[in-house]
Amino acid sequence: MPAHVIVGAQWGDEGKGRVADWYAAQSDIVARFAGGDNAGHTVRVGDDTFKLHLVPSGVLYPDVICVLGGGMVINPVKLVEELKGLADRGIDISPDRIKIAMNAHIITPAHIALDGAREAQRGEKAIGTTKRGIGPAYTDKVARVGLRTGMLADLEDFANRVKAHTVYSNRCLEALYGAEPLDPDETATSLYAAAEFLKPYLTDVPLMLYEALQEGQQVLCEGAQGTLLDIDHGNYPFVTSSTPTVGGAITGLGIGPRHIERVIGIAKAYSTRVGAGPFPTELLDEQGDRLRGTGANPWDEFGTTTGRPRRCGWLDTVVLRYAARISGLTELVVTKLDILSGFDTIKIADAYTFRGKTIRELPGDQGLLAECAPDYQTTDGWQEDIMGVTDYEKLPAAAQSYVEKTEQAVGVPIKLITVGPARAQTIVR
Ligand code: GDP
Ligand code: IMO
Ligand code: MG
Repeated sequence: MPAHVIVGAQWGDEGKGRVADWYAAQSDIVARFAGGDNAGHTVRVGDDTFKLHLVPSGVLYPDVICVLGGGMVINPVKLVEELKGLADRGIDISPDRIKIAMNAHIITPAHIALDGAREAQRGEKAIGTTKRGIGPAYTDKVARVGLRTGMLADLEDFANRVKAHTVYSNRCLEALYGAEPLDPDETATSLYAAAEFLKPYLTDVPLMLYEALQEGQQVLCEGAQGTLLDIDHGNYPFVTSSTPTVGGAITGLGIGPRHIERVIGIAKAYSTRVGAGPFPTELLDEQGDRLRGTGANPWDEFGTTTGRPRRCGWLDTVVLRYAARISGLTELVVTKLDILSGFDTIKIADAYTFRGKTIRELPGDQGLLAECAPDYQTTDGWQEDIMGVTDYEKLPAAAQSYVEKTEQAVGVPIKLITVGPARAQTIVR
C-alpha cells in the first residue's frame, strides 16, 4: 500500500518540516530517510515552535510512529538531547513509537572535528557545511569503516569500536590537517550514556515498513536537504553527502519503488541557499534583504541549524523542472507565498543564458552553473496580506497568476500552497 515521499525541490529549507507535519495527520508512519542533524525542520503548532533536526516531523501527532531510517547519519548525543527536549514538552518519545534503523551510521566527535578541519583547509573554497560531521560520517560509511547504529546493541563492543575509530581518525586529523587529536577514551565515554539510552529504539526498519505497507498503512517518507544538495544530482561539490532525492527514500528506508504512490516536491515561492556555491537567481540587493526579513519578522531566513543568514533570490523554475525530473514529482507544494506580498513586480527565472545560448535545463555538468545567468519573466505583484487566506479563489488575482505560471513552467500540479508557518495557513487546491 502507499508510501508518499517528500523531497526538497531546491537547496533545502523549503518548508519540508511543516509540510510533513501537514501530511503526517493522514499517516500511520513518518520516516526520515537521509541526512543528519544538518537538517532543521521547523513546525509551528499553535503558539509552539518545534525545531527538529533528526526526529521526523510526524512526532507531533501522538498516534504516528516515527522512524529514523538507515540512510541517516545520527549523532547519538544530539538525538538524545532532541528526544529529551521533546519529552520535556510533553511529547511521547517512547521506543513504542520511535524506531531507529540498525543500519544508520553514527556521527562521532572525530567526524565533527574532521568536518571542521576539512572546511578550514579549504579556506576560500569552503563548502560552508553545517560542521555537524555529516561528510566525514558518510565518507566512513562508503569506505566501509563506519560505525552503525546496530552496534549499540553491545555497548562494550561499541565503546571499543569508538576508541579504535578515534585512533584511526586522529591519524587523518593530525597528518592531513595538522589538527588536534581527540582522546579515544574520553570520546568513547562521551557517547556511552547516549548509546545506552538509544539501544531500546533499535528496530528492523525495512521489515517493519514492509509489513506496515502490506497491511495498507500509510507511510510518509520525510526527506531532508534538497535536490541541488544531492551528492549525485546536486551542484557538486557544493552539496551534502547524502541522497535527498527520491532514490534516497528507497535505499534509506529499504522499501521497494512500487510502494511509492506520490512524490511530493516542496518549493519555496522564491529561492534560498545557505552555504557556498552558485545560485543563479541570488539577489544581492535590498530585494534579497527583504525576502530574508530584517531580524524581527517571523519569516526570517536564518538557518534553523546554524543561524546563518540564508542567501535569497527569485524563484528558479529551471531548478524546479530539474527536481521534477530527477525525483519524478507527482505534485508540488509551494510554501511561503505570503513573503512575496508587497512587491510591485516579481520575477521568475524560466531559462538561463549560458555561453550566449538560451538553455531551459540545468547544464549537464552542474559545475557550469556559475556561468548561467537567469532569464526572467516579470509578473505583477500584489499588495494584500494573504496570511489569512485559506481558499485559493480568495488569493489576489496576481498571486493566483504567479502560482499558475509556476505550475505551467514546471509541468507538475501544485496541490498545496502555504501562506504562513501555522498549520491553518495552508491552502489545499
Ligand atoms: P525545512 O528544512 O524544509 O523543513 O524548512 P525550515 O524549517 O528550515 O525553513 C522554513 C522556515 O519557513 C521555517 O521557519 C518555517 O516556520 C517557515 N515557514 C514555513 N512555511 C511558511 C509559510 O508559508 N510562510 C511563512 N512566512 N513561513 C513559513
Ligand atoms: P534541511 O533539511 C539547507 C547545506 C549546507 C552546505 C551543504 C553541505 O533543513 O533543508 P553538510 O553539513 O550537509 O555537509 O553541508 O549543504 N545543507 C543545508 N542547507 N537546509 C538543509 O537541511 C541543509 N543541510 C545541509 O549549508 O551548503
Ligand atoms: Mg531547514
